[in-house]
Amino acid sequence: MALLEVTGLHRVFKSRGHEVRALDGVDVTVAKGRTLAVVGESGSGKSTLGSIVAGLQPPSAGELRFDGTPLDVRRLRGPERRRIQMVFQSPLQSLNARYRVESTLTEPLRLLAGLDRRQASARVDELLAAVHLPAELRHRRPGELSGGQQQRVAIARALAADPDLIVLDEPTSGLDQSIRGRIVTLLRELQAERGLSYIFITHDIAVARACAHEVVVMQRGQIVERGGLEVLDAPQHPYTRTLLAAVPGMDPAAGRRRRASAAPDPSAALDPEPAPLEQDLEPEASSHNPHTEES
Ligand SMILES: Nc1ncnc2c1ncn2[C@@H]1O[C@H](COP(=O)(O)OP(=O)(O)OP(=O)(O)O)[C@@H](O)[C@H]1O
Ligand SMILES: [Mg+2]
Repeated sequence: MALLEVTGLHRVFKSRGHEVRALDGVDVTVAKGRTLAVVGESGSGKSTLGSIVAGLQPPSAGELRFDGTPLDVRRLRGPERRRIQMVFQSPLQSLNARYRVESTLTEPLRLLAGLDRRQASARVDELLAAVHLPAELRHRRPGELSGGQQQRVAIARALAADPDLIVLDEPTSGLDQSIRGRIVTLLRELQAERGLSYIFITHDIAVARACAHEVVVMQRGQIVERGGLEVLDAPQHPYTRTLLAAVPGMDPAAGRRRRASAAPDPSAALDPEPAPLEQDLEPEASSHNPHTEES
């Protein structure tokens, strides 16, 4: 069942007399417990779509339904928006540099989840454990954390509101290659545990392939291709082909060859689960030991 249904979304920016159609009639749906990957070149409207869904800006036109109920697009911070959280490329967009991790996490727990001080403090430990960070980190400020740890705190902050949907806008793009895989693994694990839905905006086709159940390809504010992972493996639209060919090692024909040799069983093509991460990203060194966490 669809958790989010977006219909006819338009967003026009006016700058110095000319109009930019950042979104030009976008329809997407996100099912419960599933990941919609949004790919497309820079400026194609991916972040605009994500930020409208997360209630950070209104659309110029269009409708959003969340869990069967229309969202009031003019009332950006309505109560139902608690259930939609956002994680940005730069963790410092989600985290206040002056706040300790503890305050960063207790704020949404108290404001959005309505917990008292003691309850919120106990939940901080649970949230840190959920993102595989040691409890001692609650006393640190973002500047005292590695990039990977910062992004884990940003994810924990999103989880604090107990959301159903998280909009992830390039959550791995600012991280070293070796740490990307770990964050993707964490996100997949949290999805499996909590039944979360994701809108996963990314330039990184390997990351999209590792996370996505559904894929939409955007170009100049429109969706030019949509479907399952076959969009990345066997793109039909010339723009998608160009996009994939531009990514080193991500030529779709090469992807098919790799997959064919890794999985000779033809039923593997029907597997509803995303492809194993290890096919495309560096595998994790050791799984989730917070004490050997990324530098
Ligand atoms: N606040 C704004 N004011 C004016 N134009 C904007 C604004 N936000 C976005 N745009 C324009 O809307 C278009 C879509 O921008 P958006 O940031 O959604 O693209 P994107 O696909 O996320 O790109 P990137 O991959 O570089 O992050 C671009 O042409 C951009 O310049
Ligand atoms: Mg963007």
